[in-house]
Amino acid sequence: MNFETLKPQVETIISETNKTTDERLLSICQLLERHIDYYNWVGFYFADSDKKELHLGPYVGEPTDHTVIPFGKGICGQVALSNQNFVVPDVAAQDNYIACSITVKAEIVVPIFVNGKNIGQIDIDSNTADPFTEADERFLEFVCTQVAQLL
Ligand code: SME
Repeated sequence: MNFETLKPQVETIISETNKTTDERLLSICQLLERHIDYYNWVGFYFADSDKKELHLGPYVGEPTDHTVIPFGKGICGQVALSNQNFVVPDVAAQDNYIACSITVKAEIVVPIFVNGKNIGQIDIDSNTADPFTEADERFLEFVCTQVAQLL
């Protein structure tokens, strides 16, 4: 399914006010993992800016030990500080990387901004090498803008 078809489905999930925020975030993870074949782990991390840590939120995919990530550590922790998308075509080429599963070959992390503040991120792991394009970045920026409305 292409991104333009998924966008209204993301909007529908966001508008389901009978569900909790976490239920809606989980539904978004499920939607993306189900319809984009190279999205194999999809999850949200949220920042605790006092502790300078990211905390794992709703996700789909293999359970991870990395439920708390210090700012600066790994791809996710770097995005907490850089406020910029981080596209990793080959995780083996990264020094500052936290491995969650040996099957993962690539990763993309896009920050979520609320009132200009980086409050978390969407994190996607792929078992396919170098799968992400600018279209993924634009789509995930759209998802993050939608998610920001809940937070
Ligand atoms: N690989 C990430 C850690 C989170 S897992 O992908 C779920 C990183 O380097 O920050």
